[in-house]
Amino acid sequence: MTIQSLVNMPATPRIIAPAMVEESLNEGERSALIARIKTLMAQQNAVLVAHYYTSADLQDLAEETGGCVSDSLEMARFGHAHAADTIIVAGVKFMGETAKILNPEKRVLMPDLNANCSLDMACPADEFTAFCDQHPDRTVVVYANTSAAVKARADWVVTSGTAVRIVAHLHQQGKKILWAPDRHLGEYVQATTGADMLLWQGACVVHEAFKAKELAAMKLAHPDAAVLVHPESPEAVIALADVVGSTTQIIRAAQTLPNREFIVATDNGIFHKMHAAAPGKVFLEAPTAGVGATCKSCAHCPWMAMNGLRNLLQVLEIGANEIHIDEPVRQRAVLSIQRMLDFAAQH
Ligand code: 13P
Ligand code: SF4
Repeated sequence: MTIQSLVNMPATPRIIAPAMVEESLNEGERSALIARIKTLMAQQNAVLVAHYYTSADLQDLAEETGGCVSDSLEMARFGHAHAADTIIVAGVKFMGETAKILNPEKRVLMPDLNANCSLDMACPADEFTAFCDQHPDRTVVVYANTSAAVKARADWVVTSGTAVRIVAHLHQQGKKILWAPDRHLGEYVQATTGADMLLWQGACVVHEAFKAKELAAMKLAHPDAAVLVHPESPEAVIALADVVGSTTQIIRAAQTLPNREFIVATDNGIFHKMHAAAPGKVFLEAPTAGVGATCKSCAHCPWMAMNGLRNLLQVLEIGANEIHIDEPVRQRAVLSIQRMLDFAAQH
C-alpha cells in the first residue's frame, strides 16, 4: 500500500457495539416457544438458516426443522438452493441481505433487523464508492460482511472460506486489488497470496480483541493443544495459529486433527457445534483479557446475540422484519455474489 493511498483513505467511524443481551428462558418457556415456532414455520413453508455464533437453541431448531447451521458461504448457498417460500436468517444483517439478493422472489425475515456487524458499519457505501472511484485500476473485492450497496459497487464478494483462493486467482491474472472492509483479513490474504492489495481499515470488534501475548502464554500452559484462529483476528494472533480458517474450516479442523485439546480464537457460540462435531475433545476460549483489553462482549458478537426464540416467534406471528433491497442495487450486488458462488462451485 502506498503512503498516498493511505492519505486518501476515508477515516473509518468508531463503532460502538451494543450491550450484550442474551435470552434467558426456563425449560417450560423454551419448549412452548419452540413448539409454536415449529407450527408456524410449517404453516408458512419457512426454513431457518442460522450462523454458528447464534444461540444453541436457534442452532438446534434450524437442524431439527431441516434448515442449516453454517458459515456465511454455506448460509448463502443453502437459502438459494432451498425450495421454501420464506427464509428466516438467524445471524446479522448482511446475511439476511445476501439471502434476499439471491432470492428476490422469497420472503426473507430476520429476528432483529438491528443485528449489524462492525465491519459492515465501518464501510459506508458513499465513502467506499468514492474511494473505489479514486482507484479505477484496481479490482474491487469485498468481504461478505458489507451492505448490499457496497456489494453492488464490488467486482467480487468473498467470504472467509473463499477469500484466499479468489484473491490468489485474481493475482495470477495480474490484477491489483482494492479490498474492504476488514484490515486483518486483508493483511492475512495479502501475506498468503502476495497480491498487491489496498486495504480499507475496518475491523471486527469481537476478533480484534484476541490477545497474542496472552495466547502465547496459554499455548505454553497447553503444549498439546492446537490453536484454531478465524482470519478476522490480528496478525500477531494469526501467527500463533495451527489452522486459520472460516468457522466451518475451524470445526472441520477440530474433527480431523489428532489433538484432544484446542484453543479457539473466534466467537464462542461455535463451541456448541464443535462439541457435537468432535465429542470428547476439549475446547478452550483464546484469551481476550490482558494489557490493553477493551472488549465489552469478549469472544461473543453482541449483534449475533440479538437473535432469540422470542423475537423469532414474533416475526413469524406478525410477518415483521422482512428484508427489502432496492432492485437496481440488488441487480448489481447479485453479480459479485454469484461470481463467488460460481468460483466456489468450480474450485
Ligand atoms: P464465517 O463466514 O467464517 O462464518 O464468518 C462470518 C463472520 O461474521 C465471522 O465473524
Ligand atoms: Fe461482524 Fe465480528 Fe460479529 Fe462476525 S463476529 S458478525 S465480523 S462483528
